[in-house]
Amino acid sequence: MAEELILQQGQKAEQYQSIIPQIQAIIEDETDVIANLANICAALKQQFDWFWIGFYLVKDNELVLGPFQGPIACTRIAIGRGVCGSAWQQQQVIIVPDVDQFPGHIACSSASRSEIVLPIMKNGECLGVLDIDSSELNQFDEVDAKYLKQLIAMIENFI
Ligand code: SME
Repeated sequence: MAEELILQQGQKAEQYQSIIPQIQAIIEDETDVIANLANICAALKQQFDWFWIGFYLVKDNELVLGPFQGPIACTRIAIGRGVCGSAWQQQQVIIVPDVDQFPGHIACSSASRSEIVLPIMKNGECLGVLDIDSSELNQFDEVDAKYLKQLIAMIENFI
């Protein structure tokens, strides 16, 4: 495993194209789920410096906070609650350009302004979500969804 990431400047598509193969190289020889999810958060934080990046994992029919980078966050989310609970329930990617406009948004921090949440699926079941928050409005779009789905596909191989 490489000890240092090569960080890419420029358009976010280029940044994803650079960081995703590096993440693949970091996780491919490791089977521990928590270790891999932790390094994925760290690599995304280093490349993009988003406000909060983390995983919530389904345990006993709740989303429970997993590996993350950023400030402390709420630990448990019920199905259908907030953006994370909605992405879990709907089994769909949810992009929120302005969290104040999302009914039921769970404000772990008032500094979070926009958000993207992607479900992690295995055999038709949602096992958790990847949640990314930005301190700026309108930070996530279909480009993020496209590349983060590639990352989710890698996670679905080891989770
Ligand atoms: N805002 C999320 C809760 C998790 S935190 O942002 C880390 C939501 O509405 O589900």
